[in-house]
Amino acid sequence: MLGFHRKKKLPPPACEGRLKHIAFIMDGNGRWAKKRGMPRTFGHKQGAEAMRRLVRHCGDIGIKTATVYAFSTENWSRPQEEVDTIMLILERYLDEAFTLLDVENVRYVFLGDKARLPATLREKAIELERVSREKPLTLNIALNYGARAEIVHACNALIAEGKSEITEDDLSGKLYTHESPDPDLVVRTGGDVRLSNFLLWQSAYAELCFTKTLWPDLTNDDLDEIIRDFLTRHRRFGGL
Ligand code: FPP
Repeated sequence: MLGFHRKKKLPPPACEGRLKHIAFIMDGNGRWAKKRGMPRTFGHKQGAEAMRRLVRHCGDIGIKTATVYAFSTENWSRPQEEVDTIMLILERYLDEAFTLLDVENVRYVFLGDKARLPATLREKAIELERVSREKPLTLNIALNYGARAEIVHACNALIAEGKSEITEDDLSGKLYTHESPDPDLVVRTGGDVRLSNFLLWQSAYAELCFTKTLWPDLTNDDLDEIIRDFLTRHRRFGGL
């Protein structure tokens, strides 16, 4: 669990080639709002702002792929008003993404089953994927996403192709993330130390970072410090 006790400001870490893919479990929005006497949904709005800022920062420091856990297959069980507000925030976020298309270098990819999303959100997600296809930086937004469901979905796709025996590459090739490299680093804010059904296959060799900082409070400097720590780690991928 990383704490932030910064002494002097350091230059941002250079990630090019050393950290290709970072993934975020954006936890703590509800608590952030509650601490301020505000409804949980206010925390999600701030969470979306924080996400925009942090994802931009990732691009600025040379990270080509970022993935965010926006809404899990389990999140549907939250109060209807909270679910509706999150869907609305997402839709506004996508609207803004369309207006920023000419100035941003971001390719949007949605991980998860789109079938259950509200129709307008689903249509915007599909269109945004289409129009941003050629952009050099990738933002994967996990939406109605669960890692176990993703693996089952991939297996069923392979069965439908008539496969009777499969390789790891076959399976990776059918995951929602098939166009992204595996994450090098998974960051979870909000203090819990678990993966909550997020990128379970892809994170087999990822470095993990857990911080107590609530998602809307995570600053660009905090992220730089997390990444500096990551860059000092010796990744062995099962070797010596
Ligand atoms: C977890 O915090 C956060 C979520 C379930 C939703 C994340 C949504 C956003 C950041 C906003 C919209 C996203 C995009 C892609 C624009 P929590 O509600 O579990 O917080 P808590 O642990 O304090 O209750």
